[in-house]
Amino acid sequence: MFRLDGKTIAVIGAGSGIGQAVALGVAQQGGHTLCLDINPVNATATADLIGKAGGSAAAGAIDIADEVSVRDALADALRGRGGLDGLVCTPAINVRKTILTYTGEEFDRVVRVNLRGNFNVLQAAGHLMVQQKSGSIVLFSSIRSLVTEPGQSVYSMTKAGIVQLVRTAATEWGQLGVRVNAVGPGVIETPLTAPIKAQPAWYQAYADKTPMKRWAQASEMAGPTVFLLSDAASYVTGTILFADGGWLANDGRFTPPGM
Ligand SMILES: NC(=O)c1ccc[n+]([C@@H]2O[C@H](COP(=O)([O-])OP(=O)(O)OC[C@H]3O[C@@H](n4cnc5c(N)ncnc54)[C@H](O)[C@@H]3O)[C@@H](O)[C@H]2O)c1
Repeated sequence: MFRLDGKTIAVIGAGSGIGQAVALGVAQQGGHTLCLDINPVNATATADLIGKAGGSAAAGAIDIADEVSVRDALADALRGRGGLDGLVCTPAINVRKTILTYTGEEFDRVVRVNLRGNFNVLQAAGHLMVQQKSGSIVLFSSIRSLVTEPGQSVYSMTKAGIVQLVRTAATEWGQLGVRVNAVGPGVIETPLTAPIKAQPAWYQAYADKTPMKRWAQASEMAGPTVFLLSDAASYVTGTILFADGGWLANDGRFTPPGM
């Protein structure tokens, strides 16, 4: 019930980090994987990796911030295929600055990819899936949708926005056979978080805050995402699946003596 054999799944952001790991995971479960990214060289490299491992994949370019690009890229990728069974969208950007120093240009840049971009993708995939009356869409939120820290204002705001976007889409399309969910990662080692890893005290503080006492590898986000795409999640919609090593369960102030 977790297999994706015979399904066509688009993975946007497949050129790096979690998107690449998810693309590999989808292919491992038998899905035909459409690897899309703003960086087509990296998307092709992911599709090549899948091909070398005996899986089925194609690659293409997409800019989620541009709705024409989204529509065209999905149409191109789906040419000759039966339909779109699943879609995963991972791209997001972050500008870590305090509220008092954030510029309007930085605000617009982050919101344009993280909110408008995800909306563009959700809308384009929704048009296709509502028509075929089936499909599963997985967006990427974050623990930052619920808890935050200094310097994460706009990023956190967009990750909370993804939650309500997912919930609204689930309510609009549930009766039409289309499920919409999000994964909410904790701290994952990817190029996005490389600046944290480069500062040992910061990196260790995040590991210490996590009940599992470690960061995740990107490959550990593939299982939760494949679950949401698969028939194992046939009654799951409108939910945020936090894969955070227990981060949100732990207030982290103090561990009582002897515990
Ligand atoms: N890494 C973490 O610790 C972490 C934690 C919580 C949430 N997340 C979320 O997980 C998702 C994936 O993060 P990641 O760490 O893999 O990031 P990443 O930066 O490693 O990868 C993002 C990919 O998206 C692509 N991309 C960027 N802008 C694009 C655009 N406009 N159109 C198409 N593709 C574009 C990039 O080329 C890149 O391949 C993000 O939504 C992020 O917010 C990550």
